[in-house]
Amino acid sequence: MTMNSFKTFGLATLLATGFAVSGVALAQEGGAHETRTPTKQSWTFAGPFGHFDQAQLQRGFMVFRTVCANCHSANLLAFRNLADAGGPAFSEAQVKALAAEYTVTDGPGDDGKPFERPGRPADYWPATYPNPEAAKATLGVAPPDMSVLAKARGYERGFPWFITDLFTQYQEGGVDYIYSLVALGYTDAKDPNHNDYFPGGHIGMAKPLSDGQVEYTDGTPKTVQNYVRDVSTFLAWVAEPTLEQRKKTGIRVMIFLILFSGLLYFTKKKVWADAH
Ligand code: HEC
Repeated sequence: MTMNSFKTFGLATLLATGFAVSGVALAQEGGAHETRTPTKQSWTFAGPFGHFDQAQLQRGFMVFRTVCANCHSANLLAFRNLADAGGPAFSEAQVKALAAEYTVTDGPGDDGKPFERPGRPADYWPATYPNPEAAKATLGVAPPDMSVLAKARGYERGFPWFITDLFTQYQEGGVDYIYSLVALGYTDAKDPNHNDYFPGGHIGMAKPLSDGQVEYTDGTPKTVQNYVRDVSTFLAWVAEPTLEQRKKTGIRVMIFLILFSGLLYFTKKKVWADAH
């Protein structure tokens, strides 16, 4: 064998083994009641130029507020964050009015006891249940806090995707999981707790949304698909409020590095021009 054909042979063997291994992994994922791999969605905030759609974040917040927050907490979200640029960007006045609709526990007061008062923009999102134990006592299972849910969940993409993901900068595994679970996972009409995407296939949350349930004021059709798409986007922002800034900085750094490499190249040529 010549060196070149030896290399080709080696590469072919490597690829064949890789595909065989991933083939076995795929075969294992099949089966009626196995957990399914989330379906990849397209998001405005994906990729190096990703950005949030402000109207979508506002709609997602409506879904979160009127539905999900009845059970799930979001302890790291403060009312004032909702006015931040790069987020839902509600006005200061809107956030102030919103916070005032909620009652928060503060204190201790002069009598040494905690007291209740209307919320202020600096307060954190008030949870329906004071602690996970209380939620569990009512719901049967404690719902996870939503502050970083979109970042804390994900899934194994396997070969060859984990290689291509490096180049496409795929980082939306958690959001794809939330979308798949809530919008597509409830497939068994006889078992409300069956979910195709929840590990083990049995989830302690019945389908939380139905068409028309949440009021949209911007004319977007009130469908479960849209609700889940919007609330997933909102949760992506809650988990990473500075995503847009991070991506903008990344692009600027890349442009700088490319220009700087060019400069260095010509500098090197000039400095070494006479050194024969
Ligand atoms: C009636 C209460 C309730 C409502 C309303 C609710 N959830 Fe849940 N949710 C739960 C509980 C309880 C669990 C934990 C289930 C388990 O661990 O078996 C859960 C789990 C989840 C999970 C799985 C998290 C994980 O651990 O991987 C996701 C995703 C989720 N909820 C999203 C939502 C979204 C989005 C909304 C709003 C549209 C929502 N939930 C509304 C009670 C609720």
